Amino acid sequence: MERLQKVLAHANIASRRKSETIILEGRVKVNGVVVTELGFQVSANDEIEVDGNLIEKAEHLYFLLNKPTGYVSTTSDEKNRKTVMDLLDIEHRKVRLYPVGRLDFDTAGLLLITNDGDLTKRLTHPQHEIEKEYLVRVDNIIIRKKIVELRKGVIIDKNYKAVPKEVRLLELDKKNQSTLLSITLIEGKNKQVRKMIQALGFEVKNLTRVRYDFLTLEGVGRGTYRPLKIHEIKQLYAHSLPKK
Ligand code: URA
Repeated sequence: MERLQKVLAHANIASRRKSETIILEGRVKVNGVVVTELGFQVSANDEIEVDGNLIEKAEHLYFLLNKPTGYVSTTSDEKNRKTVMDLLDIEHRKVRLYPVGRLDFDTAGLLLITNDGDLTKRLTHPQHEIEKEYLVRVDNIIIRKKIVELRKGVIIDKNYKAVPKEVRLLELDKKNQSTLLSITLIEGKNKQVRKMIQALGFEVKNLTRVRYDFLTLEGVGRGTYRPLKIHEIKQLYAHSLPKK
């Protein structure tokens, strides 16, 4: 469900503010009935008319991007750095798309991009416990005791206990003094993986998100993207059903 003025703005009828005026003027009908209430909620199936003309609602788009490092996960950047939007084809840059959550400038991997505000809100709400899996390269040997500590949860941001869903030791490279971990989180605090590793006394060298819920990077090269399939969108909706 979305607010009527937002749907009008997305359909390029007018700006959000001007759309509100159009609604208040009684020029908008939803399923044949005049609606003058600002904030009236409409769904994808509702028929909306403005001055008697049926509007064409902006369709929702859903992409799975394999973000390279060196890009910010926003639609614009005040420091003029490259954004993940720069990786999209020109036709997709014209649509008001945005990333679902964030990956740091120095983090690579799976990032969903859409213009579906409802799904974005659901997926990023901690209540839905969507799993995010990261491959974490640390330039040091992490002994088992420290991994047990990490599994139990570590304190970040002064007083927050960050407990991972799962931690797996993938590689312990004594020769190069390097460790590769898989860390799965169901929350997404700012720089959470980096801070958790720092809390153990180490620094992350490379960080890549390799899974978002059931979605993986399979078949999507670094810096490229693909549209989600209908069944994948349905599954994301099903996995983020509001809980009672
Ligand atoms: N954790 C981090 O530290 N950075 C990210 O980009 C994602 C998770």
